[in-house]
Amino acid sequence: ANEQLVDPFGRQITYVRMSVTDRCDFRCVYCMGEDMTFLPRQQVLTLEEIQSIARAFTELGVHKIRLTGGEPLVRRDVISLFDGIGKLNGLREFCVTTNGSQLRRYATQLADSGVNRLNISLDSLQPDRFLRLTRTGRLDQVLDGIEAAREAGFERIKLNAVVLKGRNDDEVKDLVTYARDRSLDISFIEEMPLGQISEHDRAETFCSSDDVRALIEPHYPLLPTTENSGGPSKYWRMADSDSRVGFISPHSHNFCGDCNRVRVTVEGRLLLCLGNEDSLDLKALLRRYPGDTERLKAAIVDAIQHKPERHHFSNEGDVQIVRFMNMTGG
Ligand code: GTP
Ligand code: 5AD
Ligand code: SF4
Repeated sequence: ANEQLVDPFGRQITYVRMSVTDRCDFRCVYCMGEDMTFLPRQQVLTLEEIQSIARAFTELGVHKIRLTGGEPLVRRDVISLFDGIGKLNGLREFCVTTNGSQLRRYATQLADSGVNRLNISLDSLQPDRFLRLTRTGRLDQVLDGIEAAREAGFERIKLNAVVLKGRNDDEVKDLVTYARDRSLDISFIEEMPLGQISEHDRAETFCSSDDVRALIEPHYPLLPTTENSGGPSKYWRMADSDSRVGFISPHSHNFCGDCNRVRVTVEGRLLLCLGNEDSLDLKALLRRYPGDTERLKAAIVDAIQHKPERHHFSNEGDVQIVRFMNMTGG
């Protein structure tokens, strides 16, 4: 195997998360401001540029790619990109994170292009509340999208819920039941301080993974697993169920020591860590030296030598990343 992508802390980079658009049909309160402005087209990577970057990474030993957004499925012609990435040699896991709104239309095409893992955001099972949290989202459309994904036969489908105290923490049990009834995995996420938001005070709505676990345990005792996704999620199982319950706890349990990933932002910045600004401008390189794959790969190898050791997120308000999640690809 190709092992050129090892950072100064001995971590091998085998996973790239790419944001394919900053646009989204939802405006989730923890992710975007209400009057979000999106990037002008020429600042965004073209689909061909995204494909070239993905190919360079697989040639350097990356075997897992996740496409995210924004909402990846609102980008025009995005299916051609899925088809291209699905054909890359060396790719073992091809994953997508989506809000689910377009899945009735696209689920089968995603499966056909080779996507084997799908993560779908679902923060509430109450239509009025779902609308307040997403500002524009229709719950019935997303639930129907989840059904479409189940019918399309993905290897694993995982639900993601960001838990906010006083807004949806009373639904934790119902969300687990929903996932369990359908043999889906579900992860609960601690909100991260990305982008300036206006609607709530993050210190007040913060709900730790331990708080969430305490809401589940009385109904579904959680059994520890040794499974390690190589990612931030810590997984548990339930008796009589093949669903897994995951916790993504950037605040309460730092997982940076095992980090195996980098990100490519929608503007083509190779972002070495979600919680730091260190990056390399791949778009500038691609546009200055079109078709020069060797130069692109050399620049990536070099950039990995600058990956920061860890993030310093905190909900005390002392660390605030200016960039919004939709630019970054979660
Ligand atoms: P796998 O990596 O395939 O296990 O999926 P995932 O659950 O990490 O990916 P997904 O896109 O579903 O993201 C779920 C949540 O995890 C989002 O809020 C991401 O921002 C967060 N997340 C993913 N990777 C990282 C990371 O490296 N650091 C931090 N702090 N959060 C991350
Ligand atoms: N903190 C934590 N998770 C977030 N997401 C979006 N913004 C934030 C934030 N500030 C989540 C979405 C989606 C995933 C890609 O990132 O809910 O599930
Ligand atoms: Fe890795 Fe940075 Fe995520 Fe930590 S925050 S796990 S170092 S990408």
